[in-house]
Amino acid sequence: MPGANKIACIFLGAPGSGKGTQAKKLESKLGMPHISTGDMLRQEIDRASQLGLQVKSVLASGALVDDSLMLEVLRARLTQNDTQKGFILDGYPRNLPQAKALENLLTGMGITRVQVLYLSLAQDALVQRLVGRLSCPKCGTVFHKEFNKPKVSDTCDNCGHSPLQHRKDDSEDTAVQRLGIFDVQTKPLIEYYKQKNLLHEVNAAQDMDKVESELLRALKVKGK
Ligand code: AP5
Ligand code: MG
Repeated sequence: MPGANKIACIFLGAPGSGKGTQAKKLESKLGMPHISTGDMLRQEIDRASQLGLQVKSVLASGALVDDSLMLEVLRARLTQNDTQKGFILDGYPRNLPQAKALENLLTGMGITRVQVLYLSLAQDALVQRLVGRLSCPKCGTVFHKEFNKPKVSDTCDNCGHSPLQHRKDDSEDTAVQRLGIFDVQTKPLIEYYKQKNLLHEVNAAQDMDKVESELLRALKVKGK
């Protein structure tokens, strides 16, 4: 089966827990692309594509995009050439129907090696990280006004683009709204993957390098 050697690595965690930061750090080390459904949707919004226009107000409100639409976006992405070793999923699945749809999709692709890394962090720290976040609109690298400043003010360390942007859904009100949605819709996935013995929890309150080395260790142990 063509997918037998691929690894589906799922980063689970609340908004602001560091999924995007860590996935970006790990993609070259693991040789697997970072697939962020949020980044993909934001790119569509920037391009003003039909999909972008359809989801723009949903993202601005902090609500979730329709499950069937998200599944089609993901299905198209997972068949691209850069996924030969596998992929790091950031932001999918976000509820039980998405988790079940993903299972069917992976089974259809012959992928049986699945690892779920849960980045855990307390609510007050999550809000602080979200409201201070700066993102590069060109390459998606994220920074923070206090915790992770760019080397040159307002300029991306990775691609040199300036200025950096504050995400529209990172206002305090919308951030709190997104965290509420995480609690209700996404948190049940922690138990779901625990029951399947696929979940590894990492303390995301540590500094970024420590979180990265714990993730790498977990991936090596579970990847055997
Ligand atoms: P998405 O883009 O996926 O947002 P999210 O899940 O809310 O997660 P974030 O990107 O906000 O946080 P993160 O965990 O990536 O944290 P980051 O690394 O940036 O989704 C956006 C929207 O798209 C959704 O609301 C929804 O509308 C839609 N959508 C997406 N997927 C969907 C799906 N499957 N179904 C339906 N709708 C979907 O870090 C945060 C900050 O903390 C940064 O400033 C960073 O520098 C800093 N930081 C990171 N690590 C550390 C550390 N260790 N110490 C100190 N600071 C740190
Ligand atoms: Mg992110």
